[in-house]
Amino acid sequence: MVCIRKATVDDLLAMQECNLFCLPENYQMKYYLYHILSWPQLLYVAEDYNGKIVGYVLAKMEEESTECHGHITSLAVLRTHRKLGIATKLMTAAQNAMEQVLVPKQVYGSEYVSLHVRKSNRAAFNLYTETLGYKIHDMEAKYYADGEDAYDMRKQLKGKKHHNHHHLHHHHHHSGGCCSADLKADGSAEAKTE
Ligand SMILES: CC(C)(COP(=O)(O)OP(=O)(O)OC[C@H]1O[C@@H](n2cnc3c(N)ncnc32)[C@H](O)[C@@H]1OP(=O)(O)O)[C@@H](O)C(=O)NCCC(=O)NCCS
Repeated sequence: MVCIRKATVDDLLAMQECNLFCLPENYQMKYYLYHILSWPQLLYVAEDYNGKIVGYVLAKMEEESTECHGHITSLAVLRTHRKLGIATKLMTAAQNAMEQVLVPKQVYGSEYVSLHVRKSNRAAFNLYTETLGYKIHDMEAKYYADGEDAYDMRKQLKGKKHHNHHHLHHHHHHSGGCCSADLKADGSAEAKTE
């Protein structure tokens, strides 16, 4: 049995190890810490009956101009545990959590989840398009360090409404950012005032 649960700080080393096994895109521990400190509700792990971490999803919220959206930074499942639906469950958990981050804050604009995937990564591409309903939004030439192109993919989150009313009358309430945490990568607090 494998269970999907929210990640804790104690899981980060195992997540990093799983990432090193599965993907050429690797991150320093401070990047995992940045994610969990900023968006603790958006990191999930798959844990087997022995307590071993066999998969993870690392996600974040991004603000680009007026659009706030979720972004999947990294997803992987150990080879021994693939094709069991684990990645689907991890992704669904992160996507659902993103909706819950957004809705109570009444963020306006088009809310969606984005991610990048290598053009040659058929397993991940099928997972995103066929199982999870992502669409190709753009193509980024030579996105990866080895020169491979990426698909920039997006999925609209359910239940999102554009409320002009909120936009016009409560704009100042949102100026601190939609994404629950205004902590920057360098650890400084973001002070946005109008
Ligand atoms: C991509 C990855 C996360 C999928 O994990 P998984 O737990 O095996 O995926 P799931 O079991 O949830 O698969 C769901 C769907 O994905 C697609 N899929 C998964 N593996 C596939 C494969 N080897 N070939 C083709 N399609 C595949 C299928 O559409 C599958 O649905 P189906 O089982 O009904 O056919 C896993 O292969 C992995 O860790 N790969 C290396 C790391 C990586 O590429 N991460 C993504 C970077 S963007």
